[in-house]
Amino acid sequence: METRLITATPEGIAEAAAILRAGGLVAMPTETVYGLAGDARDGRSVARIYAAKNRPSFNPLIVHLPDVESVSRYAHLTPEAERLAAAFWPGPLTMVLPLRDGAGLSPLVTAGLTTVAIRVPAHPVARALLRAADLPLAAPSANPSGRVSPTRAAHVMAGLSGRIEAVLDGGACAVGVESTILALDGPAALLRPGGVSVEEIEAVLGHSLLMPGDPTTPKAPGQLASHYAPEARVRLNATAAAPGEVLVGFGAVRGQISLSDQGDLIEAAANLFHILREADSLAGPLGAIAFAPVPESGLGRAINDRLRRAAAPRP
Ligand code: TXA
Ligand code: MG
Repeated sequence: METRLITATPEGIAEAAAILRAGGLVAMPTETVYGLAGDARDGRSVARIYAAKNRPSFNPLIVHLPDVESVSRYAHLTPEAERLAAAFWPGPLTMVLPLRDGAGLSPLVTAGLTTVAIRVPAHPVARALLRAADLPLAAPSANPSGRVSPTRAAHVMAGLSGRIEAVLDGGACAVGVESTILALDGPAALLRPGGVSVEEIEAVLGHSLLMPGDPTTPKAPGQLASHYAPEARVRLNATAAAPGEVLVGFGAVRGQISLSDQGDLIEAAANLFHILREADSLAGPLGAIAFAPVPESGLGRAINDRLRRAAAPRP
């Protein structure tokens, strides 16, 4: 199959919507990362998403919807979820909610669970595509399973070309790390730090979240220790390069390349996955990448989560 690169003009968006309606797969830009979208009601489309990514089928997908109003067709919005939706949707937040009976989603999307992960993205191209296709879109990040997430159309092409019908090019993703995932089918629990900070969420809820690793926090099926893996080895909390290492700087720690010279976490998140790819090609497959420390607050929590997984022993 030849993967088409479609520019996100109104005509391009209409073309992408037609591909989705015919059961095809389209990588779409969102404000976090590019997602590999398919019709969430259609088992064949969803099965093709798992196959294209080589993703284990026990790892459920996020369903993307055009607006908050359409959520209740698929899930029950709990009172806390309603408040979070009002504060953060459209935006980089995913909520795991009780699945509604008769929602009509393929059971492959939820991996057979009684909950469903839902997100209303803010990117204008994603919103236009959701409206044009008029479908709930299942979309994991558009990368081969376990590898670095894509924040540009070229990243998607490098990983999935020949396996999907099209990539809709909407430029570089502004947030650069995936959505924050909260479980809201019980006490509010953080499953994955991401584009909305824990501090912002706790301010809206008025209480603290259960954290990943807390014994009462449910496990997100897809949170594997090794993920976002480049070819090169990765070392964290480095203040200088060892021989043969490419040092990625942050703030006062100056490297060959930098996440943010100013020590700005928003800029660092936006750059993260592109810099990880760039450092990988500078280091070469036998080389190593060293990352300067990033503070564990705000978006730093999501950045450090991704870096720890990139550095984890590979399966
Ligand atoms: O920013 C994002 O969230 C991007 C864009 C494309 O929206 N998507 C994304 O999808 O990061 P993915 O598939 O790479 O990560 C989805 C995560 C997985 O860790 C999965 O296990 C978890 O969401 N998840 C999905 N449904 C779930 C459920 N019902 N319960 C618990 N975790 C769930
Ligand atoms: Mg992913």
